[in-house]
Amino acid sequence: MDLEHIVSEAQRAFAAALDAASLENEKARFLGKSGQLTELLKGLGKLDAEQRKAEGARINAAKQQVEAALQARRQALNDELMNVRLAAEAIDVTLPGRGQSRGTLHPVLTTWERVEKIFHSIGFDVADGPEIETDWYNFTALNSPENHPARSMQDTFYVDGSDETGKPLLLRTHTSPMQVRYARMHRPPIKVIAPGRTYRVDSDATHSPMFHQVEGLWIDENISFADLKGVYTDFLRQFFERDDIRVRFRPSYFPFTEPSAEIDMTFETGKNAGKWLEISGSGQVHPNVVRNMGLDPERYIGFAFGSGLERLAMLRYGVDDLRLFYENDLRFLRQFA
Ligand code: FA5
Ligand code: MG
Repeated sequence: MDLEHIVSEAQRAFAAALDAASLENEKARFLGKSGQLTELLKGLGKLDAEQRKAEGARINAAKQQVEAALQARRQALNDELMNVRLAAEAIDVTLPGRGQSRGTLHPVLTTWERVEKIFHSIGFDVADGPEIETDWYNFTALNSPENHPARSMQDTFYVDGSDETGKPLLLRTHTSPMQVRYARMHRPPIKVIAPGRTYRVDSDATHSPMFHQVEGLWIDENISFADLKGVYTDFLRQFFERDDIRVRFRPSYFPFTEPSAEIDMTFETGKNAGKWLEISGSGQVHPNVVRNMGLDPERYIGFAFGSGLERLAMLRYGVDDLRLFYENDLRFLRQFA
């Protein structure tokens, strides 16, 4: 058979092999034990010495060409395979890194800190107390005896466990128990705020089952309701940094104050102008509560208030629904960053 034809036939067959396995099969046809070139080499034995030498050289040259073609095709198939793998495992180095973004304070916490700062600057201490409270501190010490109808103003969450008198423990419904806790540990003049979490069976646009209050208490020998109005109005001016605030002390009832007032607020301008929102309860501390503080009500008198931090935050930021604060939607929260 014509050697040139064998070489070009091998080149064509190798080029047509699409993977390593078929390439090795094609190789066998030319270079294997009974491949075409191998057969030709075997036939050399029948020739005489001169012819054998010349013919042998020709066949070997052809064999080298076929081997070179085989090697080149092997390399090409390997390269192709590598390229396919590289493309599949490609890493897009242009993709921006994920990074770690820095968190920010929740708007209610920002409000909490702002309230602390303002009251601290006008001479109030800041105190902290338990969220799991005894029946006595949450109700009885605040002049709400058992079975008193005023208790139903605040529907409570009870927790497992009881205090030393066997009464169930509860999640405090307001920060007012801190009035008695703090006063029993300090001598007058007592001037303190106690911010913290509070809990009630409540849920609507202005009520959340967990919310925050800040209690305020000022007890001395001659602190009056007029001081409450002055201190609180001054606080609101500083808190909102606005001059168009309207404040209303609306007569109300709390067992632990007498007289009592709810404090309502609105702005004269802006989208909610003229829409009143209750932000606080307040009043002159009831003599029975002063007694439970371990003080003589003939000598000591003062005021207390308990304000909703979410309500203050709603007014300051113009938020209409308090539940937005607790949905943890980053699009909402980022606005306060
Ligand atoms: C009280 O809790 C009294 N302890 C306040 C007080 C303290 C009166 C000291 C007198 C002396 P009241 O239930 O009104 O009162 O709640 C006080 C404030 O907490 C409300 O004005 C409101 O701003 C806020 N608040 C009450 N319930 C919720 C709630 N479920 N979600 C959000 N804020 C609330
Ligand atoms: Mg109220």
